[in-house]
Amino acid sequence: MTYSPVAACDAPAAIAPLLPVADAHAEAPLVDGTSVRYVNLDYAASAPALDAVTRQLEAALPYYSSVHRGAGYASQVSTALYERSREVIGEFLGARDDDVVVITRNTTDALNLLATAVPADAGDVVVLDVEHHANLLPWRRGACRVVPVASTLAATLAALDAEVASAPTALVAVTGCSNVTGELLPLEQLVAIARRHGARICVDGAQLVPHRRVDIGALGIDYIALSGHKAYAPHGAGALVGRRDWLDAAPAYLAGGGAVREVTADSVEWASAPQRHEGGTPNVLGAVALATAFQTLSLLPQGELAAHEHALAERLRDGLAAVPGVSVLRIWDDSTDQVGVVTFVVEGHDSGRVAAYLSAEHGIGVRDGRFCAHPLVARLGASSGAIRASMGVGSRDEDVDRLVDALAALAAEGEGWSYALDGGRWVPSPDTRRAPGLPALGITLGSSLPASPCEAH
Ligand SMILES: Cc1ncc(COP(=O)(O)O)c(C=O)c1O
Repeated sequence: MTYSPVAACDAPAAIAPLLPVADAHAEAPLVDGTSVRYVNLDYAASAPALDAVTRQLEAALPYYSSVHRGAGYASQVSTALYERSREVIGEFLGARDDDVVVITRNTTDALNLLATAVPADAGDVVVLDVEHHANLLPWRRGACRVVPVASTLAATLAALDAEVASAPTALVAVTGCSNVTGELLPLEQLVAIARRHGARICVDGAQLVPHRRVDIGALGIDYIALSGHKAYAPHGAGALVGRRDWLDAAPAYLAGGGAVREVTADSVEWASAPQRHEGGTPNVLGAVALATAFQTLSLLPQGELAAHEHALAERLRDGLAAVPGVSVLRIWDDSTDQVGVVTFVVEGHDSGRVAAYLSAEHGIGVRDGRFCAHPLVARLGASSGAIRASMGVGSRDEDVDRLVDALAALAAEGEGWSYALDGGRWVPSPDTRRAPGLPALGITLGSSLPASPCEAH
């Protein structure tokens, strides 16, 4: 019999989804031949599309055409949609009138763009060692100093302050929310540190923006980078929003059509930002999806999103506390707020194998590995990987309970299937599950699928 620590407690009030999302009724086949409602606890990797986004895209698709380049009606509509989306993204983030909204592919793209725009003579870039690789590696192409975090946020801020003061600093680049632990960083204090020493600040908003409203103008944040696919807009667009001067002075990030005013055989006059950095045909549906997701999120009553995630995360932490061998990771002893992300290890169990078990036997999707944050995961003592459960607007109490029950069953009874390492990842062996029947594109699941080189075991 499956032991359920959640069911054993007094039943708490139901936590229902806040907004309808695309995968609400998705089914996941199990290796025993049955199927269950898919439990998506992998929002921090890519969140499901909001239904509002799906509807908007269906309405926009007939008018999908080239942007900025055509007199045809669809082209005019697409151009208007793209530029209106840019405005909505800026408004949602509290952009100042003279800020630029560059539509990028994702956060990685946005941060790489900004890294090309930091003036060479302005000083170094300073980062914390808890960053996602996207907010570590682009800066290493120039002069970058890394501040090791301390066991408290207070001591970390003091160390950052000392480091920024110690040498000319152009930019403090810091995440607003850890993608590993979900802990939030105190943005006001980070801005104050940068300002005190004449530096600018860039916030990696990939994990923050889907969970909390951020007003960069009110907070005095110079730049923010984000990904649409983590904010309920699955179409491959992100943004870099912030101060115009560096972006106007930087070399064109993507040289090509649309980024120029005039080209001769041997000269080029570049456009100013944002077009300067958006060479090539723009991703109009990506921008529309992102803007629609932001518009929809902005309709939620203030605090509702945070309250929803707090309730889910607390339920999950309480449930995990009752499962033998589970330890939850956190960076700081004194952090007081976090989004719906809970990362843990299970003593005596390989994280990749637990993730495979959760998927194959329980229809639960989590992320395992080192989360593209190798220095942080090593600092947390989990170099061989951990398991991350992440939630958002479509999550409900039952999702949490299914995960806790599955882990409790693992602790009590062990796995009910065989698993083997294949291409660096644990997979059920045999894997009897079939791919869903989609209208086109025959796909197969399993060992032919490559694993990320940085997550292979
Ligand atoms: C904190 C953080 N920054 C940056 C990124 C990179 O985002 P993307 O892969 O969309 O570029 C991620 C992705 O997980 C992230 O969690």
